Amino acid sequence: AERSSFVVVANRLPVDEVTTTDGERQWRPSPGGLVTALHPVLVQRRGTWIGWAGGDGEAPEPFELEGIKIHPVPLSADELERYYEGQSNATIWPLYHDAVETPVYKRRWREAYRLVNQRFAQAAADVAAEGATVWVQDYQLQLVPAMLRDMRPDLRIGFFLHIPFPPIELFMQMPFRAEVLRGLLGADLVGFQQRLAAQNFVRLARHLLGLRYEGQSIQVDGRKVKAGAFPISIDTRDMERMAADPAVQARAKQIRAELGDPETIILGVDRLDYTKGIELRLKAFRELLADGKLTVGDTVMVQVATPSRERVEHYQTLRVRVEREVGRINGEFGKVGVPAVHYLHQSYSRQELAAMYVAADIMMVTPLRDGMNLVAKEYVACRADAGGALVLSEFAGAATELRQAFLCNPHDPDGVKEALLRAVGAEPGEQKRRMRLMQRHLRTHDVASWARSFLTELGATDDPPAEH
Ligand code: UDP
Ligand code: G6P
Repeated sequence: AERSSFVVVANRLPVDEVTTTDGERQWRPSPGGLVTALHPVLVQRRGTWIGWAGGDGEAPEPFELEGIKIHPVPLSADELERYYEGQSNATIWPLYHDAVETPVYKRRWREAYRLVNQRFAQAAADVAAEGATVWVQDYQLQLVPAMLRDMRPDLRIGFFLHIPFPPIELFMQMPFRAEVLRGLLGADLVGFQQRLAAQNFVRLARHLLGLRYEGQSIQVDGRKVKAGAFPISIDTRDMERMAADPAVQARAKQIRAELGDPETIILGVDRLDYTKGIELRLKAFRELLADGKLTVGDTVMVQVATPSRERVEHYQTLRVRVEREVGRINGEFGKVGVPAVHYLHQSYSRQELAAMYVAADIMMVTPLRDGMNLVAKEYVACRADAGGALVLSEFAGAATELRQAFLCNPHDPDGVKEALLRAVGAEPGEQKRRMRLMQRHLRTHDVASWARSFLTELGATDDPPAEH
């Protein structure tokens, strides 16, 4: 096969192969912020995207999608259980998110993680041209940089972690911690969402492996490994264009009407994940209804909770808790034909989400911990009218940039309620001022500038490759 000078390696491909109920195979956009961010970057720069196509068993043949060469990597049912659901999403995901759920450690998961990482590294080694740039993504593939360097010392290797990187004390819990750290140190540049995360990383290298560092540069076997913060973003212009589309505007009006034209629509959009603070958001809403600070009919909450990682136990118990809380709120405060909370355990297209953002007066983004949170940025980009208000957790990476949001500490229930009430009560002029400042930031800090600054720091050329 033809080789590429720009290769992205991620657990997820931008599309998932799904089998419909009548046995037909179909491609569908994949969930999550990683795909949202990387898709426009790959469309612009071309190159190859290596990843898992969803499902188990044989991988589909490589194919082309919007100029991107898609290179599927197979996972067996057993690997899915141990590498993806186990090691990635029941060990590393909770550990790196401040252990808000207890991480589970199992040797047999680790073994599969190693094996699958080796397979992704091999795929990259096969596909990358001489001297190519390979950009490895996220916590599922932390061993790939070192494995790939062993096979192909000629490559320029970057790694970007989309989720938080924990403080040393937490990282040290992990049984194969040194192996993970050495895996990451196989890269030439390791990127994080936040400056603090990059600092955790260089300090950890000294603490765990006794490596010297100067500034953000670590000395490893006579090589220099750089660490740095590269806050990820959205394709701001594209989001603005989509929100301005007459069909989306009309759909937004229709949504408001379908909700009974209330004074205030409060919206939440998250994967159904325990890091997202969906429960605490619902509780804040319930208490404000109980205190008479908000009234059903005038105010309605819409919570999109997209199904995610449904075979992992933490996610199953979360779903039960969230649905119980929704039932409780509607049971206590709903009226015939007027529920207090519209709970949608479904996945929506980008267009439909844009219409919801346009329709919503208040957006609630209240994670206990989140690497970035692109939903917060998407909401801001969609508000061409500069109306609406964003309630944002200080524990989302986005809070570092979106300083004009109504910020709150998600661990402080009173603080969350206060922020929500301030957002509801804000004068239109005040809302506009805040919105415009955040929008200005997102126009200059979009996903193209994120990719450019990472790849420039890595020493890769900034131009899309001339091949193909
Ligand atoms: N998203 C979507 N359909 C849904 C729910 C979410 O397309 O039903 C998208 C959303 O627009 C955003 C991404 O999924 O681009 C979620 O990214 P975020 O960084 O907020 O969270 P993550 O899921 O990556 O933790
Ligand atoms: C987050 C992670 C991504 C992941 C996405 C969706 O954004 O950082 O790596 O792809 O969630 O999760 P999933 O497990 O469905 O890929």
